[in-house]
Amino acid sequence: MRVFVTRSILEAGLVVLQEEVEVLVWQGLEDETPSKDEIIKGVKQADVLLCLLTETIDRVIIEANPRLLGISNHAVGYDNIDVKAATESGIPVTNTPGVLTDTTADLAWALIMAVARNIVQGHQYVKEGHFRIWGPKLLLGTDVSPGGSGKPKTLGIVGFGRIGQAVFKRSKGFDLHVLAYDPFQRETVDRTEGVEYRELPDLLRESDFVTLHTTLSEKTRHLIGERELSIMKPTAYLINTSRGPVIDEKALVKALREKRIAGAGLDVYENEPDLAPGLMECENAVLLPHLGSASRETREKMATMAAKNALSLLRKEKAPNTVNPEVYNTDAYFRRIRA
Ligand code: DGY
Repeated sequence: MRVFVTRSILEAGLVVLQEEVEVLVWQGLEDETPSKDEIIKGVKQADVLLCLLTETIDRVIIEANPRLLGISNHAVGYDNIDVKAATESGIPVTNTPGVLTDTTADLAWALIMAVARNIVQGHQYVKEGHFRIWGPKLLLGTDVSPGGSGKPKTLGIVGFGRIGQAVFKRSKGFDLHVLAYDPFQRETVDRTEGVEYRELPDLLRESDFVTLHTTLSEKTRHLIGERELSIMKPTAYLINTSRGPVIDEKALVKALREKRIAGAGLDVYENEPDLAPGLMECENAVLLPHLGSASRETREKMATMAAKNALSLLRKEKAPNTVNPEVYNTDAYFRRIRA
C-alpha cells in the first residue's frame, strides 16, 4: 500500500504513515508545488493521495487511478478539491477540522490588533531608525476596546462556525458589541449570549471591524464586493483569514485606495500567491502569507490528522473527517473498494 504526499509535510505526519505504509513524497523545492502531470503520475502509483491546499485536485486527477481509495486534504478547507467529482467516482475526501480553530482565531485577532494599532508601521518605524522621541501624535490608531471614547466598538463576524465562534470567545475581554451573520448557524447565534444576529448588509453597516470566517463555495465567492464595501463605515477595518476569493480583491484595492474603508488585514488572497494589482502598495493593508494555522503545534496536529485519515482510507474504513460521507453508500465506492 502506498500514499502519495504532494508536498513535504511535518515529520510527525510522515512518521505516522511510514510506520504502516510506503510513502511517496513529491521531491520538489519547499516553496514549489507539483505540476498537474506530476500529481497524476503520483496518484497512478498510489492507493491514497495526501494533498495540501496548494494543489488543485480536479476531475482529471481524480479519475486518473481507478484503484485510488481516498483523498486526505491537509487543511480544514477543501475548496481545492472537486468533491463532486470525487463522490461520483466513489472516492472519500477527508479534511483536518478542529485542530486549527484556536490558531486561526488567534491570527484573526492579531490582524485586528495590527490594523487598529499600527503594529506593522510601528515595527518598521523603529527598525528603520526613525524613533527619536515619544510623540503625542505618533502613529495614532483606533481603540478595539472602548478605550478613550468609553463607547464599545462593534465586531461583525461573518461565518459563525468553529473559527467564528472562537473569534467571538476572544472578543469578550475587549467589551465589544458583537454581531454575526451566518445563514447556516442562525440557531447557534441566537442561543449564544453576547452576540446578535444581523443580515450581512446590516452587519457591514454597523461594524467597526468585520472578520470573515466562511468556507469558500459558489455562494460565498465575492461575498464582499464593491457594493458590500461601499456600505461599510469609512472608519471600519476588514479582516480575512478564511479564503481569498470570498473578497473581490480588485474592489477591495479600490476601496482601500479611495479610503472607502479604513484598512484591511489579509492572510489570504484571491489568486494566491499573486496579489491584485495595487494591493501591495496600499498602506492601509496588513498582508500575511496565509499563516492562519501556522503554529508548529497545530501544523504537527494537522499532519498527523491527515496521515491518520489517509491510513483509515487505506484500510477501507469510514474515515473520520470525511467531507462527503454520502460516498460510503454509493455503488461507485463499493466497486472501488472491491477492485
Ligand atoms: C486550512 O486548513 O484551510 C487553512 O487555511 C490552512 O492554513
